[in-house]
Amino acid sequence: MKNYTLPRLDEDKETRQRLLPFCRLAPGEIWSDPLRGHRIGCADAAKSDHIEKLMNGHKASLAIHDPPYNLVAFETRSVAEFISWCKGWIGITSSALADDSSLYVWLGADQREGFQPLPDFMLMMREFEEFASRSFITMRNQRGYGTQKNWMAVRQECLFYVKGNPDFTVQYTDIPKILRGYYKEINGQKMENMERSRSDNIRPGNVWVDVQQVFYRMEENVNGCYAQKPLKSIERLIVASSKEKDTIIDFFGHSGTTLIAAEQLGRRCFICDIDPIYCEIMIRRLERLRAFGKLGWQNGNPFEKELHGVEEIEQPILELW
Ligand SMILES: C[S@@+](CC[C@H](N)C(=O)[O-])C[C@H]1O[C@@H](n2cnc3c(N)ncnc32)[C@H](O)[C@@H]1O
Repeated sequence: MKNYTLPRLDEDKETRQRLLPFCRLAPGEIWSDPLRGHRIGCADAAKSDHIEKLMNGHKASLAIHDPPYNLVAFETRSVAEFISWCKGWIGITSSALADDSSLYVWLGADQREGFQPLPDFMLMMREFEEFASRSFITMRNQRGYGTQKNWMAVRQECLFYVKGNPDFTVQYTDIPKILRGYYKEINGQKMENMERSRSDNIRPGNVWVDVQQVFYRMEENVNGCYAQKPLKSIERLIVASSKEKDTIIDFFGHSGTTLIAAEQLGRRCFICDIDPIYCEIMIRRLERLRAFGKLGWQNGNPFEKELHGVEEIEQPILELW
């Protein structure tokens, strides 16, 4: 079996130099999808002119952002600097969102550093009167980090805000309901939860234990990406907080999870990354999905033709949905 892994493409200088000539986007440029209207930009989330160009006069009904967390990538920034940077792209997001819209932000809390930047970010968000807090989702990772002297860290946090009064569609997991009881009186009749329920399965609530973290054996794995979110988690947010044909934005695209989820769910995605290499990966991931029905590369990688001389040999499929 082939196994063409890649190093972290933001860090490995030599691989970066080899790959940059194959990237279709330079900073400030946009790739516009002729088929379904997605837009991929090589843009800086904190620069309003970059995002205006990405939005092209449109407003989005949903934003899903997954910025660097001030843990590794931002080691040199103080918490105050990081929060001031966040304030910039949140303001730009607000302008890009429609009056009734939803905003999700994935952000970590460093347990060795006073839990920064999550609480600082939450406080900063209170300055934006247009955003009302709605929920605080915790997703459980299967793998974690820790020592014998501490609880293993296995959580990912996602904050949910709304602007105006957007729709919300309740979601269900694949986990069947098993507990009876919890009686409530409805129209003078005592009913238990199974009778009242709209589904045989439980809701994810705001603690998600049913999402598999991406790892190398999964088809959606994109080698070279170091912070890929599981498609299932992003699909859940999209289905809960948008409708078909809506526009969704993501300013920290990376492996393009939001783009791929939007493509599969019939939404339009305007997505960007500051790094031309991740922009190229996003374009290639979308093209690969359309050509071969594959969600990622698993044991291959987006640049295996350039780096290893390998051509895709699967039979292309023409229609996805
Ligand atoms: C945590 S990753 C996002 C992961 C993504 N949700 C996924 O599932 O693949 C953060 C990304 O933000 C990008 N980034 C960092 N600073 C940025 C900026 N100022 N503007 C746009 N993108 C930025 C990085 O290059 C990185 O690819």
